[in-house]
Amino acid sequence: MAITAEDVFYSYNVGTPAEHAALRGVSFSVERGERVSIVGHTGSGKSTLAQHLNLLLFPQSGKVSIDGVSLKNGSPDARELRRKVGLVFQYPETQFFAETARDEIKFAPSNWGMSGDELDSCVDEAAAAAGIDPSILDSNPFNMSGGQRRRVAIASVIAMKPDYLVLDEPTAGLDAAGVRGLDRMLSGIRARGLAVVQVTHDLESALAHSDKILVLEQGKSVASGTPEEIAVFLADNPVRGLLMPPTARFALGLRNRGINVPVTGGVSEFVSALERAGKAE
Ligand SMILES: Nc1ncnc2c1ncn2[C@@H]1O[C@H](COP(=O)(O)OP(=O)(O)OP(=O)(O)O)[C@@H](O)[C@H]1O
Ligand SMILES: [Mg+2]
Repeated sequence: MAITAEDVFYSYNVGTPAEHAALRGVSFSVERGERVSIVGHTGSGKSTLAQHLNLLLFPQSGKVSIDGVSLKNGSPDARELRRKVGLVFQYPETQFFAETARDEIKFAPSNWGMSGDELDSCVDEAAAAAGIDPSILDSNPFNMSGGQRRRVAIASVIAMKPDYLVLDEPTAGLDAAGVRGLDRMLSGIRARGLAVVQVTHDLESALAHSDKILVLEQGKSVASGTPEEIAVFLADNPVRGLLMPPTARFALGLRNRGINVPVTGGVSEFVSALERAGKAE
């Protein structure tokens, strides 16, 4: 079970002087239970690709399949298939309209016909998965912190019980504690068996938390692989706008001198590897 994109091309404003090729032959795949990051400079096509993954946009050439099903634009089955892939837009909290977090989370499942106890437990489960304290469910989301609001927005997508969760820059605008909390929450969601696809500018977070990373540059996939492979690739082939974290640069420098340290782990893993290397001498 997977979402796959094969050789996808997509241009905005086709046939007008403003025509712009946003995706130029991108391939990508994510399996259920995986956590994948899409990284790239601003304008590289990340959001355009994210919107293809839940059929909000359709490729002009190439194809996207969800669990083996590939649909054409306008297909009546797109709505059902789209439900499998929850898309959390950038700054989703700007689109809140309900007066309480609970009503915000309820909205989509009740639109799909859910009601009564089933709806209540769906809201509670989605809120728990998104790490929302039940005591704030009846508060107005506008009075919440940025991190709490982001969680409400994510819970409102999880409430649709998707198999895949695609998040466009989910940590944008959050402080360091908010970013750490959200990263932990996404790890928890993935542990429940959902796939998590995260669009991000933050290479450090992508290296630390992904099973696989896709690097986009000007609408093309320039690399895809494990965090380790991507760190090694980017060290030799810098991509505009992607900043290699200092620990990764340092680790790669040590490796070049024959000291075997992890390139993608946290500081504590790095220090332990250094200690081991020191003892082995
Ligand atoms: N609705 C649109 N109409 C016309 N051009 C668009 C539209 N949306 C995006 N583009 C253009 O397509 C290209 C890819 O845009 P996209 O939003 O996918 O990039 P991105 O990697 O998500 O960028 P960012 O990091 O700034 O969010 C950009 O050059 C952008 O200007
Ligand atoms: Mg974007």
